[in-house]
Amino acid sequence: MMKIKARAKVNLFLEVARRRPDGYHNLATLFARVGLCDELEFKKTSVPGIELEVRGGPPGLAGGDNIVYKAAVEFFRVFGLAPAVKITLDKKVPVGAGLGGGSSDAAAALRGLAGLYGISGAAAKKRLVKIAAGLGSDVPFFMLDTALAAGKGRGEKLKTLSWTGRFPYIVLVYPGVPVYTKDVYARLKLGSQEAVRARLADLKKLLGLLKEGGFRGESAALLFNRLEEAVLPNYKEVKLAKERLFKFGADSALMSGSGSTVFALCRDRKKALGLAEAASSVSGYQVFLTKIC
Ligand code: C5P
Repeated sequence: MMKIKARAKVNLFLEVARRRPDGYHNLATLFARVGLCDELEFKKTSVPGIELEVRGGPPGLAGGDNIVYKAAVEFFRVFGLAPAVKITLDKKVPVGAGLGGGSSDAAAALRGLAGLYGISGAAAKKRLVKIAAGLGSDVPFFMLDTALAAGKGRGEKLKTLSWTGRFPYIVLVYPGVPVYTKDVYARLKLGSQEAVRARLADLKKLLGLLKEGGFRGESAALLFNRLEEAVLPNYKEVKLAKERLFKFGADSALMSGSGSTVFALCRDRKKALGLAEAASSVSGYQVFLTKIC
């Protein structure tokens, strides 16, 4: 038996550089892992096949469409093993939230199954990362054991970042409605070349500040997500959640990924608690107070 936590992420920065012929977009993003997580359990069984049990989350998550199931199918195919496993997914991260919950579950499935079947070594790791990239653009980030990474390409070309300073608290607000990533990218109007160039310079500055000692006031002004332009005008709940975070006193508030979660970073625990409490009083919101970790 094996248990694994699948932590969620936020994007502290996300600029879309260009549309690609394959329908995807080239990004420049900064992934930050957070404490909020799903939990997965893996057990070998005597019954051939892959059994997936999902606890919690919205209905319809169980079955062959689940990315955990797909990850497991690929795992057994690529490593030429006969499946006889039960996977239990305990879902706590909201779905359609821009928090990478499904992607993290998929990465956890690959890591968990590799552990359960004693698959290790550099060559195996390479194959696992390749499976990960095939499952989704955010999955490779969760294969790294790191709190912070810069992503390029679809988000799968990664550079691990280290830091020395203290990371802030983070208040996540899921405004109660999901947003579908595909629709967001389809609706997005790219920034002008100059605008994109200026944003990429901001990312460089942000990375520099992080390297020098973590998040500070200056870092907050550099947080950016191009996808907000395609979401905020079309999902009033997301726009309102962001406005409310500022109204409740947040210094910074940003949408994560393609939404619908918005988050605020706080250096001060008391301030984070206050924000989380104020946001929790709004009916329909799911609020999580956690840390980048
Ligand atoms: O890779 P993933 O399955 O998570 O992507 C979901 C959808 O988001 C894709 O079908 C695509 O429409 C869009 N996407 C994109 N460019 C990216 C990542 C995702 O266009 N870099």
